[in-house]
Amino acid sequence: MTPTRRRRRVQSHVAAHRLNHLPPATDNPPMSDTPAPKRLFKKIDHLGIAVPSLADAIPLYETLLGAEVEHVEVVEDQKVRTAFFTVGESHFELLEPTDPDGPIARYLAKNRPGIHHICVQVHDIDAVLAQYKAAGIRLIDEQPRIGAGGMRIAFVHPKATGGVLLELSEPLAEGEGHA
Ligand code: CO
Repeated sequence: MTPTRRRRRVQSHVAAHRLNHLPPATDNPPMSDTPAPKRLFKKIDHLGIAVPSLADAIPLYETLLGAEVEHVEVVEDQKVRTAFFTVGESHFELLEPTDPDGPIARYLAKNRPGIHHICVQVHDIDAVLAQYKAAGIRLIDEQPRIGAGGMRIAFVHPKATGGVLLELSEPLAEGEGHA
C-alpha cells in the first residue's frame, strides 16, 4: 500500500470512529414525539399611528400611499376616531383623539405623533391571552373587547414586550376585518 492510500484508509477509519461515538439517537426523542412550536401570530394586521388631526393626516397618507382612505370609524371605548388604509395584506390605522382623557390624547401629550402600537392578527385570541397569563405576561386587557372593524382585540402591556404596545386581534368570522 502506498503511503497516500494508507493515510486515506486511516482518515476514513477515524471518521467512522467519530460517527460511532456520536451520542446514541435515543438521547433525542423521535421527531414525531416532539411537539411543533405553536405559532400564535397569523400576520401583522396594522400599525397604529397616533395623529393630532385626521383632517390633516388623511390627505397626507392618501398622498404617501397613493390610495384613498378606506374606512373611518369612531371607537367610543377607546376615545378615538380611526382611519384605515390598506397596505398589502396589512393596514395603517391613523388614530385621532376624541377626548382629552383618552389613551391617544394622553399619548400625544407625552410623545410626538407617530407609531403608537403594532397589531398582530392571531388565530385564537382567547388561547393566546390564556397562554400569556400562564406565562406571567402583563396584559392591559385580560379579556378581549370589540375594537375597530368589529375585531375582537386585546392589548398587551408595553412593559411586557420590551417597549412595544402590542394589540392582538381576531376577526369575529373568517373574511371580516378592516378592509
Ligand atoms: Co389598532
